[in-house]
Amino acid sequence: MPKNWKTKLIHSDAKIPEGFRSLSVGVQRASTVLFPNAASVKDEWDPYEVGYTYGLYGTPTTLELAGRICELEHGYRTLITPGGQCAISLINLAFLKAGDQVLIPVSVYTPSRKFATHVLRKFGVEVSLYPPQAGSGITQHFRPNTRLVWCESPGSITLEVQDVPAIVEASHQRGALVAIDNTWSAGIYFDAFAHSADITMQALTKYIGGHSDLLLGSITVRDERAWHQLGATQQLVGCAASPDDCSLALRGMKSLAVRLEAIGEAALHLANWLADRPEIERVLHPALPSCPGHDLWKRDFTGSTGVFSIVFQPKFSKPQVQGFVDKLQLFKIGYSWAGVTSLAVAYDFHSIPSRPNYGHRIVRLNIGLEDISDLQADLEQALAALG
Ligand SMILES: Cc1ncc(COP(=O)(O)O)c(C=O)c1O
Repeated sequence: MPKNWKTKLIHSDAKIPEGFRSLSVGVQRASTVLFPNAASVKDEWDPYEVGYTYGLYGTPTTLELAGRICELEHGYRTLITPGGQCAISLINLAFLKAGDQVLIPVSVYTPSRKFATHVLRKFGVEVSLYPPQAGSGITQHFRPNTRLVWCESPGSITLEVQDVPAIVEASHQRGALVAIDNTWSAGIYFDAFAHSADITMQALTKYIGGHSDLLLGSITVRDERAWHQLGATQQLVGCAASPDDCSLALRGMKSLAVRLEAIGEAALHLANWLADRPEIERVLHPALPSCPGHDLWKRDFTGSTGVFSIVFQPKFSKPQVQGFVDKLQLFKIGYSWAGVTSLAVAYDFHSIPSRPNYGHRIVRLNIGLEDISDLQADLEQALAALG
């Protein structure tokens, strides 16, 4: 059939050479996915069962990333979400209903806690916070309606390492599921499924992306039942990850091993150096005995990454602690972490009463890939300026 040039803009007959092969995963963007004939059209979400039906449920780029995360985390299947916080929300929406109770450690990532207290409560879910060090003592927080228990180990900012196996055992005895935010370990240094967790999530924004330029999340489940519950919810919530971002994450993943090794080593060196400084009361790094849960880290983890916190001596005022952060030159000030640039953020726990009594004295550091001696010199000059 002859075609007008306008039609050719849409239905081109141009031919290109076949047989291209490269080392990168192609970026497949799509909302519409084509069906071979009228009878095969279906609006079902699971690409592993029914093939590709709609961009929302993944394109080959999205599923390639999902498959690789799943492989690393030893799960059954992985779903990619547009961000880590979206992964957290989706897990709550998929596995909770009105009348259920969810248990959340007080050390959890703040927006995770707020989703529970601001959104889940609105829909009739009972939300209770528990101390991160609860271990098997978590039983005292259980009610007959406890359905989901969250862990985040180590916790955000204060880095408490949790006794995940003890929490899982207590939860399973009462028929509750355990979901873990495994972002700090990059899904590598803590094998959540080997420690019997049911659901894991990561902000791929962090170590998998690795360059502070994308937002993505992952949810990995241990069995088919959870997969169906999760996928059916994602279909209706309608949150789709961008294949472009997935391709960046796939590229980031290739250098994950060397980045983690270099960052982990530098962070440990600087944490030990800071622990000996007179200005610092305490270093909260899971590999140091001064960190709550250090023995659990030694028992359950196979390495440490680049985020830790320092607590200044009580004599330092809030302006002095903030002055320390402002004085840093290589460490930049900003949220998110796990990129190649070192970062520092000062927190004030006076405004968050449930957090430990570190007040305004706590600063979280993210160690990047700069030279270790330069980072140490930067910290040293900022400490010296404290007076
Ligand atoms: C532990 C943890 N979980 C989840 C998230 C949320 O990830 P995202 O920024 O991709 O939404 C963050 C972000 O800082 C985080 O630190």
